[in-house]
Amino acid sequence: MTSFKRLPSTVTPIHYSITLRPNLTSLTFSGSEDIEVRINSDTNEIVLNSLEIDITSASFTPQNGKKLTPLRIQSSDETETSCFTFSEPLTSGTGVLSIQFTGILNDKLIGFYRSKYQSREGREERYAAVTQFAATDARRAFPGWDEPAIKATFAVTLEVPIDRMTLSNTDVVSEEVLEDDPRVKRVKYSTTPLMSTYLLAFIVGEFDFVESATTDGVRVRVYAPVGKASQGEFALSVTAKAINYYNDYFGISYPLPKMDLIALSDFAYWAMENWGLVTYRETALLMDPKNSSSMSKQSTALTVAHEVSHQWFGNLVTMEWWTHLWLNEGFAKFMEYLCVDQLFPEYQIWMQYVSQTFLPALQLDALHNSHPIEVPIGHPSEVNEIFDEISYNKGSAVIRMLHRFIGDELFRKGMHSYLSLHSYKSAKTEDLWTALQESSNKPVRDVMSTWTLQKGYPVISVTSRRDKDSVILSLTQEKFCADGKLPANESTTRWLIPISVIRASDPNQIAVEVLMDSKTLDIEVPNVSTNEWLKLNASCVGVYRVNYSPELLSLLLPSIVDKTLPPLDRLGLQSDVFALVQSGRTSTPEVLKLMDAFANEDDYTVWNAIDGCLAKLNQLLSHNSEVLQLFHAFGRQLLSKTYSRLGWQPIKGETHLDTLLRGLVINRLISFGDQSVISEAKNLFDSHCAGSHVIPPDLRSAVYRAVAIDCNDKTFDTLLKLYRESDLHEEKRRLSLGLASVKDSNRIAKVLDFALSVPISDVRSNESVLVIISVGLTRNGRDIAWKFFKENKDELRRRYESGTLIGRLVKHITENFCTEDTLQDVQTFFTENAFPGTERTVKQSLESILDSLLQDVQTFFTENAFPGTERTVKQSLESIRVNIDWLSRDLQSIHAFLTKRS
Ligand code: BES
Ligand code: ZN
Repeated sequence: MTSFKRLPSTVTPIHYSITLRPNLTSLTFSGSEDIEVRINSDTNEIVLNSLEIDITSASFTPQNGKKLTPLRIQSSDETETSCFTFSEPLTSGTGVLSIQFTGILNDKLIGFYRSKYQSREGREERYAAVTQFAATDARRAFPGWDEPAIKATFAVTLEVPIDRMTLSNTDVVSEEVLEDDPRVKRVKYSTTPLMSTYLLAFIVGEFDFVESATTDGVRVRVYAPVGKASQGEFALSVTAKAINYYNDYFGISYPLPKMDLIALSDFAYWAMENWGLVTYRETALLMDPKNSSSMSKQSTALTVAHEVSHQWFGNLVTMEWWTHLWLNEGFAKFMEYLCVDQLFPEYQIWMQYVSQTFLPALQLDALHNSHPIEVPIGHPSEVNEIFDEISYNKGSAVIRMLHRFIGDELFRKGMHSYLSLHSYKSAKTEDLWTALQESSNKPVRDVMSTWTLQKGYPVISVTSRRDKDSVILSLTQEKFCADGKLPANESTTRWLIPISVIRASDPNQIAVEVLMDSKTLDIEVPNVSTNEWLKLNASCVGVYRVNYSPELLSLLLPSIVDKTLPPLDRLGLQSDVFALVQSGRTSTPEVLKLMDAFANEDDYTVWNAIDGCLAKLNQLLSHNSEVLQLFHAFGRQLLSKTYSRLGWQPIKGETHLDTLLRGLVINRLISFGDQSVISEAKNLFDSHCAGSHVIPPDLRSAVYRAVAIDCNDKTFDTLLKLYRESDLHEEKRRLSLGLASVKDSNRIAKVLDFALSVPISDVRSNESVLVIISVGLTRNGRDIAWKFFKENKDELRRRYESGTLIGRLVKHITENFCTEDTLQDVQTFFTENAFPGTERTVKQSLESILDSLLQDVQTFFTENAFPGTERTVKQSLESIRVNIDWLSRDLQSIHAFLTKRS
């Protein structure tokens, strides 16, 4: 890759007047723009971004000067720029650059693209023209300075068929039918605030809407495909409340007179925060009270709160460059929870944060191929690669840690001054630290830079000794590595860690709080009674793992069983032990024993984390039928109490978390082959299809999976039929994911073809990836999905090359490999038939089989580069290695433990 350069600053834009005229049948567009620019120093070139558009003519008119036509216009796909060269120098001052161009309404879900829908009557296929400009695709819709820090104002005009509606960031100022073409109307929008290009949006299509307003009169609308407007009611009410909330929290009012949300049928991301016109995938926004699950409702609330928070953090104050993407995203991920906690206290959303967001960050960041939160970003394709759990999840986790460290009041004060100071401008990570350091008087910058500039996080080993009435805890920090192998050059890495300790005598109160700023630290806890448990990292706020001495750990165990240890601390303890197992610091039977202590657990959040561990073990053991059967029996037993407490029928007045827990438990029992659960699911499905009883939406995912696993042709076709008939994307998604769990290899192949059906008539392009991933996550589907991926590489690349979906696909489809069948055969054979003296040879041959598998993945990606997935591939290879080591270390002891248990 050639070295990447940012645009020269010799010429910068002040105001764009852009007119776009999409043709919704030929799927092309034409456009023209007058950009008022400032020439900052004499030059005879103007360089700006443009990609896959044809510039048909251009001119430059200096203020008070005569119009100049460029000598040449050179466009480069490589640098994604166009350079206009003039025969004479343009001198300092202002002027207007006029450009005429044409482009394609593409099917790649980026830039100015098409989205398919059925017309109101007649079920004719039509296209809407919509945009997705983040991170760097505004340049595909109009030539411009497409960098986040280069802000300007925009006046947008859309010329569209008279029977279509249009939307943009601001309100309409005028609308007129063209005199020379009465089938076309010209819609002009009012000038935007000073903003970045990636936040612009234009939409042309047919939509219905519902409307409401915030307390101070900002008009809020949710647009949905024709006929679905009422499904926008929930998001509408969340949006109005969220704007009220942030107005108050940041002490700065939302600056636009309106806020529109729109559900798009084809959409690459989950949601995008365009200023005043936030776009969503249909599933992310629309709620059908009869058919949407509680989980989906909760997820909509979080998504809306996330995008609304960007209106301040991101839109008003923008990251200076993509290197600071984490700041936008990590912050919004933090804010979404803060806001939803206020709007829906019954969700106990901060508890869910830990299993949903915090733990996945720790999982990825334990790899050697992880990356620091802040990474230098050059070429646009690199942005996609940091659209990951580090930027979002770890980013939010370090902000949550900081929020706790300085307290809400001072945090808020600092935020207010940061946002005020940088409004309508851009900022860097450092600027935020400066503001928060000033408001709090704490060493924010020093603490935070250890978390954002270094990859990974520490594991703290703790031992204890008595000193009269006190206990002295001795802490040592060291970088945590998933494979347990700390590279020499990282052995001295240190973090500044806010440490908290809780104790049995008052579990909900933090007993000691200190900042650990060296490799080791002794902490004195006064008046500790014999056998009193002590635990670090209250509520998993600190981004670290803890490795307790056996004595400390054994004191903690009873507090799990009697639940005197608070839920997030039970969860944290379990998760830490699991991570230590994975890294080889302790053995898998230890964590299985610990899991036993959770048989009486009743908290959804805790189960959610345990479920993640069960899923991981299920993947790991999936090649060995015998051990897998034993493990399933273990799992069924572990879940049995909770299953009998909750059953299948929603209990009137039950908590939101119990509703979520029921779905989780049933789903897991289905994975673990629980026959009574599976047959109950089949009964429900039959009566659902017969129309006599509707499956509660919260249980549909589980039921569809249960009936799909061993289905016959009839059931398979019924699932497909339900899929085609449903109009709700959420339901389609559940059905397609259900289908993805079929066991029979012919049907697996059918599902994969269905996922990638061309033309895209069955599964929308943005949903295909998830279906393929889901197949890849099943035992029988894994190898088939990998083969399918390799065979369809060209189509996959064509569809997704410039987005983030491809990275997700690569990750999930490869990272769970732990062995190929051959490897397993060999291993099982030699486990069952030991030949004394050949142990080393067997190990070596396992290694080489493993190497050939790693080689397969590696070679494929070397020969077939998918830009932007390079790091993901490395991470997957590393995860495979971790899986293999883990399995070869512990398979026997797991077998022995489970056999004894059964
Ligand atoms: N701004 C992002 C989407 C984005 C980021 C697009 C970078 C292109 C490049 C948006 O706010 C976002 O974070 N969307 C998430 C969902 C959100 C609720 C976490 C997504 O689409 O996955
Ligand atoms: Zn975001």
